[in-house]
Amino acid sequence: MDAIRTQHLTRRFDGEHGVIDLDLVVPAGGVYGFLGPNGAGKTTTIRLLLGLLRPQAGSIALFGKTANAIGAGALKDVGALVESPSLYPHLSGRDNLEISRRLLGAPHTRIDAALERVDLRADAQRKVAHYSLGMRQRLGLALALLNEPRLLILDEPGNGLDPAGTLDMRALVRSLAADNGITVFLSSHLLAEVEQVASHIGVLQAGRLRYQGRLDALRDRLRGRLLLETAQHDVLIGCLHDLGEQAHRTSDGRIEIIEPRRSDAELLRDLVQSQANVSSFHRERPTLESLFFDLTNQAETES
Ligand SMILES: Nc1ncnc2c1ncn2[C@@H]1O[C@H](COP(=O)(O)OP(=O)(O)OP(=O)(O)O)[C@@H](O)[C@H]1O
Ligand SMILES: [Mg+2]
Repeated sequence: MDAIRTQHLTRRFDGEHGVIDLDLVVPAGGVYGFLGPNGAGKTTTIRLLLGLLRPQAGSIALFGKTANAIGAGALKDVGALVESPSLYPHLSGRDNLEISRRLLGAPHTRIDAALERVDLRADAQRKVAHYSLGMRQRLGLALALLNEPRLLILDEPGNGLDPAGTLDMRALVRSLAADNGITVFLSSHLLAEVEQVASHIGVLQAGRLRYQGRLDALRDRLRGRLLLETAQHDVLIGCLHDLGEQAHRTSDGRIEIIEPRRSDAELLRDLVQSQANVSSFHRERPTLESLFFDLTNQAETES
């Protein structure tokens, strides 16, 4: 059964697209990366899913249950972290959790479990005002986990985190899905961030879903262009030609190999054995923009 399924979900704002005719399919058990640039409609979608905003058209089903009213029963299996968490800065991490626990009527043991899960046990007694941004995000996640959700909806959980914080968040998301069987729906404007954790992606642009499907299906595109640098362009192009590879000189003076026949490792080995002087060899990862360009010039939505 799918964790989220929307049909023709639409919410426009005065003169703004919001989201239009969205058919999301989020299978249970994986990590779904919801990608889109600023203003694409990610937060609007998430607010609709959480019943914080009413759709003008379309429907939402969570684990097969139609969610139509604000605060509907379908949401009891859902935990969410939308933008930055609302926390009481003068209270400790533990006390912040305690307030939510009482509201939920959840057992006390959930607090320690949630603190443990996000690795905040050692800092649980400290005031949230003294927490780093990464710790606040993790406390926000702990709050979202208090009701033991089957679905976790995270709006840009990596925003503002430094590389170490991003790594922590990524590992946490991965492990929540793999070890706890929680379906994670996370939004981001960074392809590289989503690529590391997601099994499925949806690509949103100007309120419309441009692509949806397994990340594997994009593997070849995500490998990026293979670019070489050398001081002797003609020699290198000649060598590549002798190896049966097609290459051309890019406008910025590098050599791009077009649809290589060999693996990167084989190419590297063969180039070293040849007389070509290669000073650099790398894959240029596609940006979200270049992926959009690719995808929008292709079939609209696959599943
Ligand atoms: N309450 C609102 N009133 C009017 N317009 C809105 C409202 N909320 C969102 N919008 C508009 O809807 C569009 C989508 O906004 P949304 O916040 O969903 O994008 P986003 O993908 O989350 O962007 P970001 O990456 O910047 O968070 C934007 O054009 C925005 O201006
Ligand atoms: Mg947003």
